[in-house]
Amino acid sequence: MPKKIVKSKLYFDDNFIETIGEVSTEKYKPWEPNDKLKIIGKPVSRIDGYDKVSGSAVFAFDKVLPRMVQARILGSAYPNAQIKKIHTQKAKSLPGVLAVITYEDVPKIPWYYNTTFLFDSHVRCVGDEVACVAAETEKIAEDALRLIEVEYEQLPFVVNAGDAMKANAPKVHDFGNILGGKPDIYSRGSIEAGFKDADVTVEDTFSTQVVIHNPTEPHCSVVNWDDGKLTVWDSTQAVFGVRDQIANSLGISESDVRVIKKYMGGGFGSKLEAGKYSVIAALISKKIGRPVRVTLDRKQMNLIVGNRPDSFQKLKAGAKKDGTLTALQHYSYGAVGAYPNGAGCAWPLRSLYKCANVSTEEYNVLINAGRARAMRAPGHVQGTFAFESLIDELAEKAGIDPLDFRLKNYTETDPVSGEPYTSKLLREAYKKGAEAIGWYSRRKPTGSDKGTVKKGIGMATQIWWGGGGPPAYATLKLNRDGSVQIIAGTQDIGTGTYTFIAMVAAEVLEIPVEKIQVSLGDTDVDPYCPSSGGSQTAASVSPAVRDAAEQMKSKLINGASAILDLPEGQLAYRNGIIVNKKDDSKKISIGEIVQKMHERVLITTGARNENPKGYQANTFGAQFAEVEVDTETGRVKVLKIVAAHDVGRVLNKKTIDNQFHGGIIQGLGYALMEERIIDDNTGKVLNTNLHDYMLATIKNTPEIEVIVVSKGDNLLNNTGVKGVGEPAIIPTAGAIANAVYNAIGVRIKSLPITPDKILNALYS
Ligand code: MOS
Repeated sequence: MPKKIVKSKLYFDDNFIETIGEVSTEKYKPWEPNDKLKIIGKPVSRIDGYDKVSGSAVFAFDKVLPRMVQARILGSAYPNAQIKKIHTQKAKSLPGVLAVITYEDVPKIPWYYNTTFLFDSHVRCVGDEVACVAAETEKIAEDALRLIEVEYEQLPFVVNAGDAMKANAPKVHDFGNILGGKPDIYSRGSIEAGFKDADVTVEDTFSTQVVIHNPTEPHCSVVNWDDGKLTVWDSTQAVFGVRDQIANSLGISESDVRVIKKYMGGGFGSKLEAGKYSVIAALISKKIGRPVRVTLDRKQMNLIVGNRPDSFQKLKAGAKKDGTLTALQHYSYGAVGAYPNGAGCAWPLRSLYKCANVSTEEYNVLINAGRARAMRAPGHVQGTFAFESLIDELAEKAGIDPLDFRLKNYTETDPVSGEPYTSKLLREAYKKGAEAIGWYSRRKPTGSDKGTVKKGIGMATQIWWGGGGPPAYATLKLNRDGSVQIIAGTQDIGTGTYTFIAMVAAEVLEIPVEKIQVSLGDTDVDPYCPSSGGSQTAASVSPAVRDAAEQMKSKLINGASAILDLPEGQLAYRNGIIVNKKDDSKKISIGEIVQKMHERVLITTGARNENPKGYQANTFGAQFAEVEVDTETGRVKVLKIVAAHDVGRVLNKKTIDNQFHGGIIQGLGYALMEERIIDDNTGKVLNTNLHDYMLATIKNTPEIEVIVVSKGDNLLNNTGVKGVGEPAIIPTAGAIANAVYNAIGVRIKSLPITPDKILNALYS
């Protein structure tokens, strides 16, 4: 099958990246709205459902190898300290302990951005890796950690971004606390001219808290060296990415590392990179010559494997009397933790509405706390809350309904690049969402609800990338019994990848989903697919699967033509059987074709098509929230969320609903409950468990109505998928905050919206 190498631009992991890779050169035939799709878009139960509920699914933690030992990691007790000495003798002599390693045993290994090290004598946050113990049992390893004595020289520290930006603040790294020494600046038009043109302006400040990914499944790796080759069973969103990072860290060849991940209990961005713990486990395993399982506990997950950075945002906006936006200004800073990362959040303001004059200034600030990592729509979640709150303020000041105000400033092209979108059905999403919540019929004037418990309705808009791109491949094998196996180097991070892959192949080959097995997440076996981040998995991988299946279909028709001695044009493909159009009795099944061809298995490999040039691929949507605020207790109860989005084609109605429900519940927790709390005096995180760190649960879950307005983005790729994982969470907090304002007539500008903030706002 012909393929060519092209360049593509993707938004991924808080960055634009250029990918260069093979694409299918086959001109694809999109699935048109009038095509009678039998499986795609239907609610199909997960093909791995039985494995999961029965406990037979093997997660990283479940991998058991002969002679395997257990490793646990000791973290720093202080937010900033120089280690003077580590005494490991007591730990080493505890029966059952096999090895203890520290920075003294390990050469300095360049890690991300060359600024942090695997083990360093300088620890920069509570929990920073100090030592690792391998023992016969996890219990012994834990006991041994307590026997390690570390002599620290405590250093001055800083744990909030505002303080860290001050000139006399303790430096987290020698190069200073502001990354790059300066802000990220963006502007278009003239912000001064824009504000001069404005009839109404609003200016406000907003803040958001640090939250933790807290996936259900803890971070874990099982590692084994065999004849110089390292195999890592890892809980990861990126098997190939982790393979390459581990190989680089250890200074060995990529082909000497194999990463396997079969099942996973979520990551939300915290498992996009290789963990230091995986490399540490590899080092200790090599030292003792036995397989090692390293596990992080919930406390460590809350300290060192990432978070969503906080934000302080100062926004200003101007509009004409008729609601036309004339100027948008953004200033923000956020804490990235002790090692470099991004905390910017201005993209929604830059790209959501038509506005000629925009300026943004963002600071990424180092502090002595766990490093931030990409977390479900990095930047957009915090940015959308503030910006969509401000847009409501401006609409009110201009005397225009908030939804009408947004429609007034609707843009048909990307305001940043000037390019058109591959598709944008936000108008339809607004319309359907507004109908479902009763925007124009049920929403009352702000603050007008009587009684002590007041209801309100609010909304917010979402823009994100997604859309995926090449390179991504899938290999399809057809057996003589008509069964199909598909392998791809992607991963199912809990989102339903196994199932949509089977569905796409079943649709094309017209066979039941049950005839298809899917195998994912093994870098030694599978063809390459990208990381599962940036909402790009389904939009990158499903087209490659469709391409492989279409090639298989052509191959089968080709084979049937030779076997039946009939021209291809006289053959029809029907439900896995190829028939003579003129004589129904002359037919052959796809399994028989494989047999007759004297091949035990027919193989095709499909590739993702090229993204169209000169277009932006974005997802859009709006969420509408109905809330109830108890003005005596300050409690907010979310009654209903309507999520109306253009996220491209729905592959599986069940798993897309899962993504929306999960994103909205996580967004509700962000809006009302979740917050990492650090004690300024000690630099310690005070709520590192799920008792003190409040996650939203089923108890807080409102009625959720999901409306997907797209029938498929046929310009983007051959399945029309754009992606849903991140869009689902982006507008939730903004919609809830605007609904709270509509209920009580007082705006809460700081997340989470806790009862004390409501009561203070109402009565002080
Ligand atoms: Mo996502 S934050 O790209 O896993």
